[in-house]
Amino acid sequence: MDGLAPFEGETEELPRPAATGTLYGVGMGPGDPDLLTVKARRILERAPVLVHFCKQGKRGNARGIADAILCDPSREMALAYPYTTELHPEHPDYVAALAAFYDDAAGRLADHLGAGRDVAILSEGDPFFYGSFMHLWRRLKDRFPVDVIPGVTGMSGCWTRAGTPITWGDDVLTVLPATLPLPVLLERLRGTDAAVVMKLGRHLPKVRAALTEAGLLARAVYVERGTMSGERVIPLEIKDDDEAPYFSMILVPGEGRRP
Ligand SMILES: C[S@@+](CC[C@H](N)C(=O)[O-])C[C@H]1O[C@@H](n2cnc3c(N)ncnc32)[C@H](O)[C@@H]1O
Repeated sequence: MDGLAPFEGETEELPRPAATGTLYGVGMGPGDPDLLTVKARRILERAPVLVHFCKQGKRGNARGIADAILCDPSREMALAYPYTTELHPEHPDYVAALAAFYDDAAGRLADHLGAGRDVAILSEGDPFFYGSFMHLWRRLKDRFPVDVIPGVTGMSGCWTRAGTPITWGDDVLTVLPATLPLPVLLERLRGTDAAVVMKLGRHLPKVRAALTEAGLLARAVYVERGTMSGERVIPLEIKDDDEAPYFSMILVPGEGRRP
């Protein structure tokens, strides 16, 4: 049971919490709206408050995935990050500003939830996988009912579009944020069979250097905007520039047991 109103024609009575709304973390999948789950779509169609994160002055990526479904702006709330890439995530100003931003956002959502309105937070890929949703979930989960709807992850969409299985047999897969320092990337890449390197942006040259040093460059595939319009899949070895947008990652497929 998920606490949402039943579909038209359904007779089953769903139990609803008496006083408060439910906080939904909605996995939006990797970009192609056809990869939304049935449950995600149902919640998007019915929740009275729909929340998405965005850059100042820009539209949120997770929100864009819902274009085919959403047409009622009065239900929507955009939460604009105070910073994205302007400061290092460990800079004290960044930490303080983000904490205040999430505290304020949690307060605004608590007002809706406390008044009995369900709130759905749109989350790219899967909400519990490097999702901003998690910062609001942490602040609200002990006060309100929560339902997290898993989504197809970005990496799953990317290796599918690249046409490359990522792990075979006993292969160990390591997921790395490109923001890690070069020696850490190198150590982790040397110790794994397969890898996914996310959050590339301006870190692409460093990741390329680590892959080269680890002897993995020839296996590395660069995927930009996997499953979305403007998708690009190319062996990293022949990508001759260092440009990488937010929605990009590098895959290093495993080569394990294949009887
Ligand atoms: C903050 S993480 C969010 C991950 C997301 N929750 C998920 O389940 O995939 C953002 C990173 O995910 C990766 N990513 C997510 N979707 C992608 C896509 N469709 N194509 C390429 N990269 C993607 C990029 O590396 C991006 O920098």
